Amino acid sequence: MADQRFILVLHGPNLNLLGQREPTIYGHTTLAEINAQLEARAHAHGVELIIIQSNHEGELIDAIQQYGFTASGIIINPGALTHYSIALRDALAAVPSPAIEVHLSNIHAREPFRHRSVTAPVTRGQIVGLGPAGYLLALQYFLEYAKDEWKG
Ligand code: DQA
Repeated sequence: MADQRFILVLHGPNLNLLGQREPTIYGHTTLAEINAQLEARAHAHGVELIIIQSNHEGELIDAIQQYGFTASGIIINPGALTHYSIALRDALAAVPSPAIEVHLSNIHAREPFRHRSVTAPVTRGQIVGLGPAGYLLALQYFLEYAKDEWKG
C-alpha cells in the first residue's frame, strides 16, 4: 500500500445503518452500495481506497493518524461527531492529507444543532445535501482536480 496511491474514506457513527435509518432523510442506499460505487470509480482510475466505518470516535482518529500522512485524500462523513468532536477536528488538522467533509443530508437546512461543523474548517471543503452523489463528487475532486498535489 505504501507505494500505491490511495484515498481514505471514513464513515462515522450510525452510517452503518444507511438504508434502514430514517430513509426519508438519508435515503434507501446502503453503505455497502455507496462503498461499491466509490470502489468502482476509484479502481477505474487505478487508485485504491481504504474504507472504514466506525461508531467510535477514537477509531476514526486512529485511522486518520495511521493513514493521514500518506493518503492522497480523505473523504469523511463524521456523522454527529461533525457537530462537537474537537478531537476529530484536531486529528484532521494534524495530518497533511487534504480532507473533504461529506453529508448526505443538508445539515444547514436541519435542526440548528446540525448547522455547525467543528470539522469543516480544517477540511478542503464540505459537500452537503446531495445524498450518495456527494461521496462520488468528493472522490472525483481528488481523482481529477487535485492530482497534481499527490505524493509519490
Ligand atoms: C450526517 C448528518 C449528521 O448531522 C448526522 O448526525 C448523521 C449523518 C449526514 O450524512 O447527513 O449521522 O452526517
